[in-house]
Amino acid sequence: MEKIVIGIIGAGYIGREHARSLRLVRPMFGDKLVIAAIADKNLEAAENAARDFEIGRFTDDINSVIDDPNINVIFSCLPTKFHIDVIKRAADLGKAIFFEKPFAVSMQQAQAVSDILEGSGVPNQVGFVLRYAPTYHALKKLLAERSRESALRTIVLRDDQMFPIKGISHFTDWRSKVDLAGAGVLIEHGIHDLDLFEWLFGKVKRVSARSNNFAGYEGIEDYMEVRLEFASGVTGNMVHIWHDIPAHQSIRHFEIFFNKALITLDTYDMHHITVRDAVSEAKLERPDLYQMVVNEPLFKDLSNREDMLFVSDYYAIQDYWFVRNLLEGNALSPTVKDGLRAFTVGNACYESAKQDGAWVEIS
Ligand SMILES: NC(=O)c1ccc[n+]([C@@H]2O[C@H](COP(=O)([O-])OP(=O)(O)OC[C@H]3O[C@@H](n4cnc5c(N)ncnc54)[C@H](O)[C@@H]3O)[C@@H](O)[C@H]2O)c1
Repeated sequence: MEKIVIGIIGAGYIGREHARSLRLVRPMFGDKLVIAAIADKNLEAAENAARDFEIGRFTDDINSVIDDPNINVIFSCLPTKFHIDVIKRAADLGKAIFFEKPFAVSMQQAQAVSDILEGSGVPNQVGFVLRYAPTYHALKKLLAERSRESALRTIVLRDDQMFPIKGISHFTDWRSKVDLAGAGVLIEHGIHDLDLFEWLFGKVKRVSARSNNFAGYEGIEDYMEVRLEFASGVTGNMVHIWHDIPAHQSIRHFEIFFNKALITLDTYDMHHITVRDAVSEAKLERPDLYQMVVNEPLFKDLSNREDMLFVSDYYAIQDYWFVRNLLEGNALSPTVKDGLRAFTVGNACYESAKQDGAWVEIS
């Protein structure tokens, strides 16, 4: 594409996050990147975002933005149930689409979204933003190094987050409604981890899961434990928790056991990785983590951007690459294929939880 003219649909938490990120990277693309409009049924939210992030037009009519012939790229940032409507309308008009995870409220709807996007052939990218986080690229490098010396045995992840039922940054309660959200912590938040696990460790073969619903919102689990078996024979355990402990930050805590080494990763405050083996313990923090990845293709052109790379602003890094790849005609990543795959693994977890933890195979 020669010029990108973006319309953002949704001015809530993630719509604003994209507006912020795109404004940050805009000077890097000169007049080839325009953030033309933002739409939300809440006109005030659209107006505030337009003012805060210098967006030309705001409206409460989302279709007027999708249909605008000057706009050729759409960001879908509405509550989960509505992505399909935005994606269908934009795909029918041949527009490139960035859409947020989990992008559907059911397996059937996820398949329908995939059919629309694959059928139309429009460039598309799903918001698995952790794939753009320098920390996880450093982890991937460490995993490859350690794997050459010692066999990977098992992975443990605890992912906890403040219950976002009241919204992440402002009051919105759609995450408490099963028809709008699809389900609870696993699909809404843990889907990032389902994608990350396969990106880091390879294909999952089968899962066994149990869920619980302490807060009592119908169909919205706030606890999910998953046992995973990878095609490689490696095993894993994930626990996803939505809690109500404001004094505790939301963190991901990984423990990755090799025969003769342990890698731990915490996303508390700054990201930390520790590597222990028989003879040593290495604690990697900023700037060590970033030095490990700064020459990789994804990051090397951003090596002077302390505000993006060194503070690990992975939303901005993600949006930078979305824009750059579109302009240069490169393939986008991750796409709806990856989104559908993570959704499929998640769906197997829900199937298993319904059967009290029975193993469910994933083809
Ligand atoms: N990638 C990530 O890290 C990440 C983080 C947060 C949310 N998300 C995803 O982004 C999506 C939105 O989440 P959010 O946190 O921004 O929610 P939010 O509640 O903060 O924002 C949603 C916005 O959509 C508007 N809206 C709702 N229904 C609408 C409709 N029918 N027409 C027009 N506008 C409508 C609301 O007024 C609100 O401003 C969800 O799918 C969520 O899972 C992704």
